[in-house]
Amino acid sequence: MSEAKVTLTFSHGGEPIELPVLSGTLGPDVIDIRSLSKRGYFTYDPGFLSTASCPSSITYIDGDKGLLFYRGYPIEQLAEQSDFLEVCYLLLFGELPDAEQKAKFDATVKDHTMVHDQMNRFFTGFRRDAHPMAIMVGMVGALSAFYHDSLDIANPRHREISAFRLIAKVPTIAAMCYKYNIGQPFMYPQSRLGYVDNFLYMMFATPCGDYEPNPVLVRALERILILHADHEQNASTSTVRLAGSSGSNPFACIASGIACLWGPAHGGANEAVLAMLEEIGDESRIGQYLERAKSKGDSFRLMGFGHRVYKNMDPRAEIMRRTCHEVLDELGLNDDPLFKLALKLEKIALEDDYFIQRKLYPNVDFYSGIVLRAMGIPTNMLTVIFALARTIGWVAQWHEMIGDPEAKIGRPRQLYQGNKMREFLPLSERGE
Ligand code: SDX
Repeated sequence: MSEAKVTLTFSHGGEPIELPVLSGTLGPDVIDIRSLSKRGYFTYDPGFLSTASCPSSITYIDGDKGLLFYRGYPIEQLAEQSDFLEVCYLLLFGELPDAEQKAKFDATVKDHTMVHDQMNRFFTGFRRDAHPMAIMVGMVGALSAFYHDSLDIANPRHREISAFRLIAKVPTIAAMCYKYNIGQPFMYPQSRLGYVDNFLYMMFATPCGDYEPNPVLVRALERILILHADHEQNASTSTVRLAGSSGSNPFACIASGIACLWGPAHGGANEAVLAMLEEIGDESRIGQYLERAKSKGDSFRLMGFGHRVYKNMDPRAEIMRRTCHEVLDELGLNDDPLFKLALKLEKIALEDDYFIQRKLYPNVDFYSGIVLRAMGIPTNMLTVIFALARTIGWVAQWHEMIGDPEAKIGRPRQLYQGNKMREFLPLSERGE
C-alpha cells in the first residue's frame, strides 16, 4: 500500500489529523478514516456514495468508462465465451478452472440440486398468488432449518458445502416458486441436463410429456445469468456482508440479499421496467412519461435507467440489448411492441438534456425483462432470475469477507438529530 497521506484541518481549531491514503490495483485511492472515531469524529455519507466498505478482489467496475471485470476478466468476454458455472468457479476461487476442475465443480453442483423433500410442504402455506420473491426469501432462509451440517462458518468445509448447496438449490427453489404460482406439479432436477437446461426443464416441463429447451434460449439465459452474477458492493451484496459480519449462517445471509434485491430501485427494476413499458403502451405517450421522470414533484422515475456507479452505458445493457435481438429473432417476435417501445424510449431519453446532464443511461434491467418475458418467464419471476444469478456473487463476497482477518461486525454510527436528554413526564402531568 502507498505511504500517501491526507491531512484534515479544522476551521474551529483543534489538532490537524493525518490519514493514510490507500491504493488498490485499479480504481480510485481511498482515505483510511478508521482512526477518526478515536479522535471523536465520524464521517457522514448517507447512501455510501463516497464510502468503500471493504477490500475486495472479486469484481471491478469503472463507472465512467463503463467497465466491468470479474476477477480481471471483462464481462464482454465472459458473456460471449464462458458459461455460468465456469463464472461461478471464477468468482468463488479467483481463477478459471482447468478441464478437470470444471468437470468436478459441475458434477458437485449436480449432486446438490434437490431440496429436502419436506421443504415442498412449506409451499402449501403460501397463497398461490404470493409474489415468488416473497417465497424465495422464506425458502432460502429455511435451508438453514435443514442443512445443519453446513452452518458453521468457521469451518471451511461447511463454507464450501453451503456454497455448492446455494448455487445448486436456488434454481430448484426458483422453479418451484413458478410451478406453485401456476398450479403445476414441481419437476425434479435432471442430472443429465446442464445447469441452465435443467432450470428451464424445471420451469417449463410437465409430467405429461418430453421437454427439450431451445438451445438459443439456453445460451441467451446462460449469458443473462453471467451478466447478473456479481457487481461489487451493490445494495444486496452489502446487505449480505452486513448480515454475515454478525456470524449469521450463509443461508440466512443470502435470504437477506434476496430481500434487498427485491426493491424496485435495485433488482426489482426489471419487473418495474416491464410494468412501465406496459403503462406507457405507445410511442406517442413516451414524451409525457419522460416529463414525469424529469419532474421533481413526481415520484415516477424511468425504470431501467440510471445507476449509482455507471455514468456511462452499463456494459451489461449493451449485451442485453443484443441478446434481446437474438431471442426475439429466434422466436419470430421482432415486432414485439414492448421491445420496439423500449428501443424508441432509449433513443429519445439518450437525446434528452435531463438524462444527458445527469449521465443517466440504460442499466442491466432495462432490456432483461423483455428478453426473459419473450422466453416465457412471467414478469413476477424476473427478479427471481436476478436473485438466481446473483447468488454466486453474494456467496463469493460472503466467503471473501469471512476469510478476511480484519473483518469486523458492521456497525455504522449516525448524525443524531433527536431530542436532548429530558425528564420522564407522568401521564397525569402530560398535556398541561
Ligand atoms: C441495479 O448498485 C448496483 O450495482 C446495482 C445493480 C447490480 O447489478 O447490483 O447494477 C442492479 O440495481 C441497477 C439499477 C436498477 N434501478 C433502476 O433502474 C431504477 C431507476 N433508477 C433510479 O432509481 C436511480 O438511477 C438509481 C437508484 C439506480 C441510482 O440512484 P442514485 O445513484 O441514488 O442517483 P440519484 O437518485 O441521486 O439521482 C441523481 C439524479 C437525481 O436528479 P437531481 O436531484 O440531481 O435533479 O438523477 C435523477 C435523480 O432524480 N435520476 C433519475 C433516474 N435516476 C436518477 N431521474 C429519472 N429517472 C431515473 N431513472
